Amino acid sequence: MATARACANIALVKYWGKRDPARNLPAAGSLSLTLAALVTETTVVFDAAAAADQLVLDGAPASAGDLARTAAILDLVRARAKIATRARVTSENRFPTASGLASSASGYAALAVAATRAAGLDLAPRELSVLARRGSGSAARSIFGSFVRMRAEGDAYAEPIASPLAERIQMVIAIVGGGAPKSRGSRDAMEHCAATSPLYAAWLALVPRDLAAAEAALAAGDLDALGAIAEANALAMHATAMASRPAIVYWQPATLALLAEVRALRARGVAAWATIDAGPHVKVVTTIDAAVEVARATQKIDGVTNVMISGVGGPAAIVEAPR
Ligand code: DP6
Repeated sequence: MATARACANIALVKYWGKRDPARNLPAAGSLSLTLAALVTETTVVFDAAAAADQLVLDGAPASAGDLARTAAILDLVRARAKIATRARVTSENRFPTASGLASSASGYAALAVAATRAAGLDLAPRELSVLARRGSGSAARSIFGSFVRMRAEGDAYAEPIASPLAERIQMVIAIVGGGAPKSRGSRDAMEHCAATSPLYAAWLALVPRDLAAAEAALAAGDLDALGAIAEANALAMHATAMASRPAIVYWQPATLALLAEVRALRARGVAAWATIDAGPHVKVVTTIDAAVEVARATQKIDGVTNVMISGVGGPAAIVEAPR
């Protein structure tokens, strides 16, 4: 048995599209920041007495879909370790309650680390990243802490990027609540965009340019440049989704109000740039110095139900059992 912990990450240059859905290979690279405030802890026990894999998520038996996706990762681990034993998996999201945030990135990263260790394997971080990617593309990035780049080519693994910005960047996460129906999952939505959005080809052409500019900004320690790329890239991803047919619109009124508030903060000289994933919530790239002011401003918006401030998270790791 083994227990591992992994932090979620938020993409600054988004992964939105696959070149091989069967092996879950991304169509383009991506770049993210790992967040300390959003953690998943997962325990894997290979149990000779178990007839089938089991998954308990936040205290309740998981859906058939989640179980099948987890069992597919366990199959890869078993093949590599040359074992046939089924596993009991328990996974807990240490996310603030009602955060409404997706946990597949931290979840599959923690699963990859815990399952390989429980099976007696000792994989390098890059191999863990490839394994986590099979569960969720964004999970490949959660193997690493701080800034992370995901490569599209070959095995599609992620790797950390050093930047002086890791010392001062923070993220404010504004949760948009309300009675909106559950957002369309990113897996299904990105396939729909690839199949129907007239902007999808333009999106794929844009990503390498945004990645190069973001990496230059990270190397130079230029938060203004990084923030501007992150906001523009997220809006381009959402434009691609909105142009698909039928349209995928993740935004709610509060999402637009938050975008306006972020622009107003910036106009007052406050470091603030917005990014949005496959849902209505807005994540604001900011600094340690400005985070409280940004959090206060976003909290005042109608429809915002929860605001969190997160610092930079570390890599996925085994939780050592107390001796
Ligand atoms: C909008 O990693 O959840 O958050 O590989 O199909 O599991 P699958 O997709 P997933 O997609 C993440 C989409 C995103 C952007 C990002 O995190 O890069």
